Amino acid sequence: MWRPPERIRYSAGPGRAPTRDEAARSLLFSPIRSGRLALAQRTWVPAMVPWRATEDGFVSDEIIAWYERFARGRPSAIVVEATGIRDTPSGPLLRIGHDRFIPGLQRLVETVRRASDDRTRLLIQIIDFLTIRRRPDPKTYFDRFLAITEAHRRAVGGEDLPESEVRERLFELGEAEWRQTLTGREWEALSHGYRERVTDIDLPHIRDLPKSLPPLFAAAAKRAEDAGFAGVELHYAHAYTMASFLSRTNTREDGYGGSLEGRLRAPLEVFDAVRTSVGKDFVVGCRFLAEECVAGGNELEDTTRIGVALAQAGMDFLSTSRGGKFDDAARPPIGAAAYPYTGPSGYECMPQYISDARGPFGRNAAPTQVIRRAVRAAGFETPVVCTGGVHNFEMAERWLQDGVCDIVGAARQSLADPDWTRKIAAGAGAEVRICEFTNYCEALDQKHKQVTCQLWDRDALDEPGAMLTPDGKRRLVAPEWRGPRQA
Ligand SMILES: Cc1cc2nc3c(=O)[nH]c(=O)nc-3n(C[C@H](O)[C@H](O)[C@H](O)COP(=O)(O)O)c2cc1C
Ligand code: SF4
Repeated sequence: MWRPPERIRYSAGPGRAPTRDEAARSLLFSPIRSGRLALAQRTWVPAMVPWRATEDGFVSDEIIAWYERFARGRPSAIVVEATGIRDTPSGPLLRIGHDRFIPGLQRLVETVRRASDDRTRLLIQIIDFLTIRRRPDPKTYFDRFLAITEAHRRAVGGEDLPESEVRERLFELGEAEWRQTLTGREWEALSHGYRERVTDIDLPHIRDLPKSLPPLFAAAAKRAEDAGFAGVELHYAHAYTMASFLSRTNTREDGYGGSLEGRLRAPLEVFDAVRTSVGKDFVVGCRFLAEECVAGGNELEDTTRIGVALAQAGMDFLSTSRGGKFDDAARPPIGAAAYPYTGPSGYECMPQYISDARGPFGRNAAPTQVIRRAVRAAGFETPVVCTGGVHNFEMAERWLQDGVCDIVGAARQSLADPDWTRKIAAGAGAEVRICEFTNYCEALDQKHKQVTCQLWDRDALDEPGAMLTPDGKRRLVAPEWRGPRQA
């Protein structure tokens, strides 16, 4: 089993907050310009799905309020949540798979521009994902879903029995026997829910992904440009299609798997198609995994080479994450789909405060530092964004000084306090609401409920104009910061 090596340690809490002058001299609040990416500071809000799009995947008023609130904190960049590139229903997840989504996205861009006084560059993460089904009730699985084979018939001694009887006998075997009788994939479909893989090349739509994905990503990126975004982040991380192409677990034998070169082929072809479809100033970068954190998955040895190849291809930034895979996800309840942040690799992606001996902070820092060094050694200046556990100025500044990254991503800390970097820059670091890393927000995400933060979602529910959840029990955006408290 994969074990995380020893890493840099950081402590919890606010750390020492700088004075306004110290903040002004810091790396965190210094500009960065590299290729197409120009930011006034090195502050970045990575993609976070808030489960607020309409059922048809359009921008809703709640989505507008979510990003407007982040924008009032004036981070240098916000990456809009994972947004589907296909024109297929996916519940209240944002979509960009058709031109009809452009006007809503335009409104989002305008909102962020206004709310941040044009200080925040808005990017959008574009994603493809394969089919995943809910965990079935065993009776339904054996009655309807399982394709009966000779092996099943042999297992229940019923080579001449009618299929319905074979199904009944299989169902009656019980869990211990099912594990022995079913193939690995059949058992997975029963215990976790059916899930497609990029290696299922017997399925024509999976076999043809290398042909279908480049135009889908390219059209989505063009729509993002038409809507006014500054750029796109290609989602090559976590449990989704493009990360699966990059993974060592991708054993396709059609030139799109196996060797690292083969695994990189689809992601690089997608990038080429995207680059060609958009204007010369439009930013195109990607998010990928510094480590997959699953048995048989990519380790640093692979990901340093992947980072260099992506930089060499001309990516405008490289943003790292870690883990978050289906491979080791916990068994969901019957009727629910597996969630890729529930197993050990999920922990690596979004560690909770209650943690192992290494603590939850900065687990992605050391591997990202190695990747960045390799990218620089290969002669590329591509900016690197690192995310994971950042919650105070000291930690963010340390990463920049140590060459872990060029830009600091903070997801949950930005949710806990969308004004956190603005407060620090104003010398009011003591007023930052520090994320407690309890993963209350992530639990809401897992239940597909509107994401909020426990540090503020019960505050001032009666405030005029406060936007609330339909049950009226939680506010949807953080209360306003009225500027530094007077001493
Ligand atoms: C509610 C929630 C939704 C998320 N959605 C996405 C997403 O759409 N795309 C993505 O790449 N990462 C997503 N993440 C992962 C974060 O971007 C980030 O990598 C992770 O939370 C670790 O960073 P942090 O310690 O700063 O929170 C999500 C995280 C949370 C808490
Ligand atoms: S809910 Fe908990 S983990 Fe999530 S942002 Fe708030 S304090 Fe942090």
